[in-house]
Amino acid sequence: MTLYSRVRPLAFKLPAETAHVLGKRALQAVQSTWPTQAALASNYRYAHPALETELFGCRFSNPVGVAAGFDKNAEVTHALEALGFGFVEIGTVTPYPQSGNDRPRLFRLQEDEAMINRMGFNGDGMEQVRDRLERDGPPQIPLGVNVGKMNSSSEREAVEDYRRVFVRLSPFADYVVVNVSCPNTPDEFDEASPDHLRTVFETLEAENDDDVPILVKIGPDSPEESMLDLVDIVEECDLDGIVATNTTTSREDLESPRGEEWGGLSGDPLQERSTAVIRTLARHTDDDLPIVGVGGVDSARSAYEKIRAGASLVQLYTGFVYGGPGTAKRINHGLVELLERDGFSSVEDAVGADLE
Ligand code: FNR
Repeated sequence: MTLYSRVRPLAFKLPAETAHVLGKRALQAVQSTWPTQAALASNYRYAHPALETELFGCRFSNPVGVAAGFDKNAEVTHALEALGFGFVEIGTVTPYPQSGNDRPRLFRLQEDEAMINRMGFNGDGMEQVRDRLERDGPPQIPLGVNVGKMNSSSEREAVEDYRRVFVRLSPFADYVVVNVSCPNTPDEFDEASPDHLRTVFETLEAENDDDVPILVKIGPDSPEESMLDLVDIVEECDLDGIVATNTTTSREDLESPRGEEWGGLSGDPLQERSTAVIRTLARHTDDDLPIVGVGGVDSARSAYEKIRAGASLVQLYTGFVYGGPGTAKRINHGLVELLERDGFSSVEDAVGADLE
């Protein structure tokens, strides 16, 4: 029995957002001193040459990262590194602080190993995040920065929002993600319209003197045709990859009564859908455009499925909440076993194996 399996029932008695804030405080306490950080790392890090990957000009010691939303404000990147994750994506970061939607806005669906959130881009804003990154220094693992717009922005203002956050934070980033797929922010205009996306991507590329890799994060709910249109724009604008997927508004086959809450559903019920999206994207791009796979990853098997479907890296949020601090180690250890079983010498060799 792990410590987390004893703590989890108590934590799950608290409202989900309160438990999240307390969990983050504990991680902040751990990362505030070198000995506690080192103790965490010696317990939870797992290294193996088969897990190492080169992507976006960076070395990833393992392909399992923390998805956007967990550490929106870059408060615990060093603790997440010590927990054995191969990379961390902070954000979504907006230009100014924003309070997000009213509480309660985060719900656990325990029967479904899922969560529903309608946080609505709450966050400290780019200046505080920048100060924090300057003060703490970035972690030693690759850092992604997920950028977003203010909820009240018009289409024209949104382009400027993305540009400003990009300019302020890309110097700290190993890659930047443009988030145009949040299902819980107001629909002031069509964020997925091809003209808008082209303007956003071209505006960011025009500011990108240091050639920071730029990716776009997509949702799982669009029809295949519009997803593939977006991939064509991504290729046309020379973007560097796609993060697939964000949360879903679909509510199929849920057991928990909480399934009636509005917002984005994450975790186990999203697993198959997001893997199917990854497979579609990888097929359409001949496995040539890097994909970061996210949605329902909670085990080595589910991570491996996404890798075999075409993801070069995977991320998780909900699986970490349910699995606790040993999650990255458990998944990475299991991944090595699966790679060995199937005769792959590295994760890179297994990317897209199911597409052949
Ligand atoms: C998220 N997610 C998210 N994504 C994003 O691009 N920007 C964000 O700010 C957030 N915020 C956020 C908050 C909460 C509470 C959750 C649960 C999720 C989406 C997240 O990065 C991921 O795409 C989905 O949650 C699917 O992955 P999991 O949770 O099934 O592993």
